[in-house]
Amino acid sequence: MDKEVLQVPGPTPIPEKVLQAMGSNLMYHRGEEFGRILKETLNLLRKVFGTEGDVFILSSSGRGAMEAVLVNAFSPGDKVLVLVNGRFGDIFSEIAESFDLRVETLKFPWGSPVDVWQVEDRVRKDSEIKGVLCIHCETSTGVINDIKAVGDITARYNILSVIDAVSSAGGIDLRMDEWNLDFVLTGSQKALMTPPGLGIVAVSQRGWEAVKKSSHHRFYWDLRRYKEFQDKQLTQTPFTSPVSLICGLREALRIMEEEGFDAVIKRHAAVAWEFRKNVREIGLEMFPQKDEWSSNTMSAVKCPSDIDSSIIVREMLENYHIRIASGLGELKNRVVRIGHMGTQAQSNHMRTVALALSEVLHTVKGN
Ligand SMILES: Cc1ncc(COP(=O)(O)O)c(C=O)c1O
Repeated sequence: MDKEVLQVPGPTPIPEKVLQAMGSNLMYHRGEEFGRILKETLNLLRKVFGTEGDVFILSSSGRGAMEAVLVNAFSPGDKVLVLVNGRFGDIFSEIAESFDLRVETLKFPWGSPVDVWQVEDRVRKDSEIKGVLCIHCETSTGVINDIKAVGDITARYNILSVIDAVSSAGGIDLRMDEWNLDFVLTGSQKALMTPPGLGIVAVSQRGWEAVKKSSHHRFYWDLRRYKEFQDKQLTQTPFTSPVSLICGLREALRIMEEEGFDAVIKRHAAVAWEFRKNVREIGLEMFPQKDEWSSNTMSAVKCPSDIDSSIIVREMLENYHIRIASGLGELKNRVVRIGHMGTQAQSNHMRTVALALSEVLHTVKGN
């Protein structure tokens, strides 16, 4: 089989320049040259997150960053409110529970965004809630949540906002400081066009106060250690750095900077809009019930009720070498999930994907 085109909602294909940057000979993670690279990477990441505050790079996937944030932001027994409108909301609850947080969930139908009025109502009525956990782009449903409104509520009630931006950061507007967000996390493998393996965490000033107070046991994920090493004359990570991945991430961020971070966001919006239009033209429906609820980094597309999504996934791969993903959790066989972030977010390319999808649908229906 020819090389497959990675059209899943992460990991996404890696630009040639990023591959080259990772392929150069290894350098010492405590040396001056790597210190400069790390510093530049962190400064570029600040632009992605929309923050002047601290950003840390961890050796982990997205879930490692979710865990890191929870053990630093809260203490065992703290009550948190998790907003759940898809599988990744559930995952956030599971991680919080495993660290002995008292987890309250506010559930919303899959396909709809979080209802911020209900969030405010719950937070107003329960003064024990210490923080609200929310997924920005719910990768299981393709829905985007209003994290600006979440940040507004948590700031007014003086509690913490914790945002999972794994499948949004770098592809969708994110203004951590302006929106009063306290902890925002992401991974390297999606809109940031770098292989899996880096968890990235940004912390607000208010977030820092919480990190200092947390009584959770933590060693590898202790953000105080990261800050201590980062604030040194020579920027470093506390443990051996994933040097090659960070060199790759710097290159990816440089590519984004050259295009302009705002231009990148706009490109994602334009490509997503056109893709949604193409999906409707071929007779399919988006899973999110309204266009304004749809993410610009990935789409969950409903399969016709008589077709199992795994058949479409298989046909796309076998006949077009395009790798898309099936549904997760309760959407397992009902939707296909298609990424359009990072290098995937190109109009012509996405038109080809839509065309292949239409051909596959035709074939499958014909059988
Ligand atoms: C929104 C969201 N959160 C968390 C994760 C988990 O990340 P990882 O699989 O890198 O641990 C993903 C992965 O797809 C995701 O899309």
